[in-house]
Amino acid sequence: MTDKNTNDTFSSEKGIHTDFMEKMTYGDYLQLDTLLSSQTRLSDHHDEMLFIIIHQVSELWLKLIIHETQGAIQAIQQGKLQASFKMLARVSRIQVQIIQAWDVLSTLTPAEYMEFRDQLGNASGFQSYQYRLVEFVLGYKTPFILEIYKKDPQLHAILEKAYHAPGLYDVAIQAVADAGFSINEAVLNRDFSETYEKDKSVEQAWLAIYKDVDQYWDLYQLAEKLVDVEDSFQQWRFRHMKTVERIIGHKMGTGGSSGVGYLKKVLDHYFFPELWDLRTKI
Ligand code: HEM
Repeated sequence: MTDKNTNDTFSSEKGIHTDFMEKMTYGDYLQLDTLLSSQTRLSDHHDEMLFIIIHQVSELWLKLIIHETQGAIQAIQQGKLQASFKMLARVSRIQVQIIQAWDVLSTLTPAEYMEFRDQLGNASGFQSYQYRLVEFVLGYKTPFILEIYKKDPQLHAILEKAYHAPGLYDVAIQAVADAGFSINEAVLNRDFSETYEKDKSVEQAWLAIYKDVDQYWDLYQLAEKLVDVEDSFQQWRFRHMKTVERIIGHKMGTGGSSGVGYLKKVLDHYFFPELWDLRTKI
């Protein structure tokens, strides 16, 4: 019955293309051969497939987050705030996807994970260079990732460049200064390879913007987009930490950290501290 209906559906469509001997197919365009042959399980355990795919899907979304955030940084530098809002809104929607992905991983039980965990050796999301690139564009600069990828000069160069480049918050603060607010010179000319640290002049400027949103609507909207991104980033970190606790309890991580204890600690980091502080002060 279902087959007949399906056949009827196709046979009533006269224009469907079927001759692809000389033409590019969907699979060619997306390089599905490469993509779909990259799920090599190291064990023969059924559940390792989920483990690989959830990581790969997350890495694909991280790639788009980096692409969009770098686009937003450029747009802000060019004074095109509306264009940056569009890209940052997309980042937020992607974050919803990767936060929800934890629900799929939660179906992996501790017993199932233990069946193949040893095969991972020292490999861990801790070494995810795309995750560190996201942290870099958000202004959190930790140099150890450059050390890890010394063995890959091309990748090392990409990480090095992002490590020294201004982050999203740096260009947002510059936009605030360009709008006439007085910002500490030491912040505007800071060494971008250092993690951003909060500053009184930046807090005063954001406070003034939040107190007169009609006059500074664009900067206010920019600030709220940044809060959206940070809020979701923290939700991702939190869900990761709880999922890890659910699966491995308080065992050490394969990357060598204390595990859940470490993941709880990183939750304390704020990317855009003044935007959070001002909520108490407004
Ligand atoms: C069974 C599933 C998972 C377990 C048990 C797990 C466990 C851990 C642990 C213990 C750490 C701390 C570093 C270490 O010592 O290894 C860590 C870090 C990390 N994991 Fe996972 N993880 C899992 C799934 C995922 C997935 C699906 C992603 C998606 C990309 C991911 C991305 C990361 C990242 C980016 C870090 C570094 C976090 C930071 O330094 O702030 N993990 N993971």
